Amino acid sequence: MSDTMDARATLDRLWKPGCDFLGSKVAILGGAMSWVSERNLVSAISNAGGFGVIACGAMSPERLEEEIVATQALTQCPFGVNLITMHPQLDALVDVCLAHNVTHIVLAGGVPTGATIRKIRDGGARVIGFAPALALGKRLVKMGIEALVIEGSEAGGHVGPVSLNVLAQEILPFIRDVPVFVAGGLGRGDAILSYLEQGAAGAQLGTLFAASTESIAHENFKKAFMRANARDAVTSVQLDEQFPVIPVRGLSNEGSRRFLKHQAATLQKFQNGDLDKEAAQLEIEHFWAGALRRAVIEGNVDDGSVMAGQSVGMVKEIRPVAEIISTLVDQAVEALERREARIHTPA
Ligand SMILES: Cc1cc2nc3c(=O)[nH]c(=O)nc-3n(C[C@H](O)[C@H](O)[C@H](O)COP(=O)(O)O)c2cc1C
Repeated sequence: MSDTMDARATLDRLWKPGCDFLGSKVAILGGAMSWVSERNLVSAISNAGGFGVIACGAMSPERLEEEIVATQALTQCPFGVNLITMHPQLDALVDVCLAHNVTHIVLAGGVPTGATIRKIRDGGARVIGFAPALALGKRLVKMGIEALVIEGSEAGGHVGPVSLNVLAQEILPFIRDVPVFVAGGLGRGDAILSYLEQGAAGAQLGTLFAASTESIAHENFKKAFMRANARDAVTSVQLDEQFPVIPVRGLSNEGSRRFLKHQAATLQKFQNGDLDKEAAQLEIEHFWAGALRRAVIEGNVDDGSVMAGQSVGMVKEIRPVAEIISTLVDQAVEALERREARIHTPA
């Protein structure tokens, strides 16, 4: 066997638990992205051998049903649906997924209840959760979660405070009973390989796929990704500790600068007694309502929310999903070959 075939076999061995769990050829998930992860991108990722995930976000059960059916018309391969646990119609959304034989449900945005996990498993689907820390990861596994995503603060969208580098060290050596997928800041196969070697079962990427040919994101959105460097993808800034701001990573723009002024003006109104605390908090939270749609669908990247991970610095061109995935695989294989060569080169 050639060195390349050996290396590819090693890669396949390393991410076999992830592939087996997802039912995919490669253990690369397309992380759910609101407005972006719809039928076209999800089916493209699954058809390319990865695992696409529909972002349900605030969709109604009827709207989700339409998206699932449309995705199934575009791919025979398995894909998942990401549901936000605080959605007021969570149970109905789970019913829709089960009725249409969705194989995997990802529960995001908070700790799910045991009842939701049981309902999904009893309905025949597999259930994936997010672990922001080791203790919570262990608790979720005890509750019946069958796989975990650990997402570092490098990621695009809503983020926790800890980098993937640290989360991986905190969690991968200690959770061995279920597959753990790593996410956040991943733009090359070499990096994915290093986490597989630490015990990860696979990886979840968002930013690279948002900028793919098949992504329905507006041309302006994709162009902003191509122009951006890693340091342009920053987390939202909170001005006052009394008024929490949910940390979201995206490209800094006029909108993020206006958000600071909006917070300052709202704080002033609170201090003057023109707004009570609750009203002021709501006014701060409402600032970003509809802002992701504005950027992704309408292409208003100056004022909308251009959610992006730090891996945005590695987006240099708009490429088809299949090419993005095969490049990641090639990079992982080449990294394995280089390592073998280094190990066997006499000092
Ligand atoms: C534009 C955008 C929207 C996102 N929306 C969601 C979402 O609705 N639900 C979710 O669980 N994660 C969301 N994410 C996070 C992704 O699913 C994924 O975990 C993350 O993008 C991985 O990090 P990366 O961007 O560095 O690849 C979003 C990310 C981006 C870039």
